[in-house]
Amino acid sequence: MLQDPRISARMTSDVPHSRSFFFRLCFWAGGPLALCCFFLFAQSVASPLPPQHPPPSENKTKPTPQSVLPVRSSDIIAGLPDGEMKRKFVVGCTPCHQIAPPFAMRYDKLGWDTVIKRMHQIDDDLELRLIPFHKGELTAWLLKHVKIPAHGAPPPRPEAKAAWKEYPIGVHKGFYHDVTILGGRAWIVDYFGNILYGVDLKTGAKQAFPVPISAPKGKPAGAHSMDISRDGEIWITFTKTQQVARFDTKTNTFRVYSGFQKGANVQYFALDVDRYVYKDPKGRVWVNHFSKEILSRLDPKTGKIRVFQTPRTQRLPEEGVHLYAVVADSKGRLWYTETHGNRLGMLDPTTGKAEEWELFVSWSGPKRLAIDPQDRLWIPHLGTGGITVYDTRQRKIIKQLSLPIPGDYPYAIRRNRYTGDLWVTGTGSDSLYRLNPANYQFTLYRLPRKGAYTRTVDFTKDGYIWTCYGSFPNYHTIMPYQSGVIVRLSPQ
Ligand code: HEC
Repeated sequence: MLQDPRISARMTSDVPHSRSFFFRLCFWAGGPLALCCFFLFAQSVASPLPPQHPPPSENKTKPTPQSVLPVRSSDIIAGLPDGEMKRKFVVGCTPCHQIAPPFAMRYDKLGWDTVIKRMHQIDDDLELRLIPFHKGELTAWLLKHVKIPAHGAPPPRPEAKAAWKEYPIGVHKGFYHDVTILGGRAWIVDYFGNILYGVDLKTGAKQAFPVPISAPKGKPAGAHSMDISRDGEIWITFTKTQQVARFDTKTNTFRVYSGFQKGANVQYFALDVDRYVYKDPKGRVWVNHFSKEILSRLDPKTGKIRVFQTPRTQRLPEEGVHLYAVVADSKGRLWYTETHGNRLGMLDPTTGKAEEWELFVSWSGPKRLAIDPQDRLWIPHLGTGGITVYDTRQRKIIKQLSLPIPGDYPYAIRRNRYTGDLWVTGTGSDSLYRLNPANYQFTLYRLPRKGAYTRTVDFTKDGYIWTCYGSFPNYHTIMPYQSGVIVRLSPQ
């Protein structure tokens, strides 16, 4: 069986609308079908393959029966030589989308130079500073080392059985970073369109709520993180307008908070052990900022904001450090990662002082961490594919884990408040992993689409696990929908 069974008949019926979509579909389908489509269409589609350049020799290899697994981002990353350059590449080039066929098929200097220039432009336009390379630095290395293997690596152990349900909602050209579930509805919010979308889980009814933020018409407000509080509110950050919104699902109304530091990119809420937005004993919420080394505290009653400074990471300009994600321990201390700064930090709100530590190999890219009831941090590293378990009480690393799929990279770890399991996004391999904190064993669940870039996981009491396709651009996820997509997993 060479056709991937998960590519549905419905998907095929969508194909005539787009030749390049058909090309991508064919590529993913694997085996001779892919080769056949490849040669038939490579000459006629504008993107991604320049017609004058032959495909890399790896793709000419006739697949043997055991070599029909589709190539994923992780397969390409796994083939790169280990070292700082590889980690830097993954940290800089995979925070928006996977690096995988059909999109990563660049074979020559011009091809890579062109695409990297465009990526720098996107990065600059959004004022993100994610790509830590100078002009030309990356091209030579990619030319030398990127190979698209004829087939993907087999999973290290059987994939666990799962049933998936997808809820298409929102516009195709949107970007949906996070998902959350509250009040019988599943929610995503569009970074570019500034609209909160909800789908009723019983009736399937869909609703759209424009967020009353201050972005000029047609400009992105940069909706980024979305989480719920213990007392039943949805909280959303808007990185571009420096605002935060609270949404009441009973009245379907927003309250918007303004006044966060300009240009600081308000990023994520501090979360607690149960994956709720952390509220301190006075009911205040905390956010970090992507482009400044500060944390801010917001009093939702008065709207008052107080800023807390964290130590400067001298080797990078402040906006390039990327103070990334925060969790609160049982004493209310706030533990945070710096992704490009490559540090772990802790702010003690009782003193207002923060400390930072260099614990990780260079460019490991610590990302969206979780905390457990023993105050242990579970820190995913984009650049290495590893997870550090750090005991905040003993102040030491107690375990280093690696994702089971070679070349995979984890964006986020979330703790299931109902079971205590940790869930890790297999962001480079279209996967979600359940990680048992007692024995450090992973269970692999493969998402039903290729290029499925995930940034978060949410949980409901009925045992479902939730995520959304959060690729930027959204169309790098190979799917039959012209929309955003919320995904529900039922482990079998
Ligand atoms: C800030 C987000 C972001 C980062 C970081 C980023 N990309 Fe992209 N990438 C995009 C978007 C958006 C697109 C689609 C629009 C386009 O192709 O211009 C894209 C498209 C691509 C494509 C497909 C182009 C095509 O013609 O189909 C490749 C290949 C790619 N990126 C490689 C990279 C590499 C290599 C890096 C690191 C240097 C990188 N990306 C970093 C956002 C990003």
